[in-house]
Amino acid sequence: MKICIDCDDAAVNLKKVIYDHLKKQGLDVTDLEYSKGKENPYYGEIGYNLAKAMQAGQYDRGILICGTGLGMAMIANKVEGVFAGTCHDVFSAERLKKSNDANVLTMGERVIGPELAKMIVDAWLKSEFSGGGSAPKVEQLRELERLSFHPTNEGESPCKK
Ligand code: RB5
Repeated sequence: MKICIDCDDAAVNLKKVIYDHLKKQGLDVTDLEYSKGKENPYYGEIGYNLAKAMQAGQYDRGILICGTGLGMAMIANKVEGVFAGTCHDVFSAERLKKSNDANVLTMGERVIGPELAKMIVDAWLKSEFSGGGSAPKVEQLRELERLSFHPTNEGESPCKK
């Protein structure tokens, strides 16, 4: 599994903790280091950069960290093919993959401590999409995403009334 990670200025410490934690486990993790050599870029462009790498199929999972995790999730979800969610507890992290099939996890350094963040990342990475009852729900998300990005079939909607 190829993993990428990045953060803004609010999450430099937590990114290092998570990067080292994954490396120690022998995982294939790349720090995209979008901020390197730039003058304090905003979380939007950092998250967008990682999301585009995910869209291009360069990585299987992406981790984005900012102050709250929220801005990173918002921008990552604007890239087609990327499903991102913010998690600050282990249960949600597991469900984010098992139920929602998200390929990007976001967290906030200003919200949780490093030990919990490591547990959250581990739970998410160890989880796989369960399929079953979740499959048609995620399929609907993908279909709505398709309609949103390619609005040629206006009026068409997979949503039941
Ligand atoms: C700091 O720029 C803060 O706004 C950012 O890290 C993040 O929390 C945004 O969602």
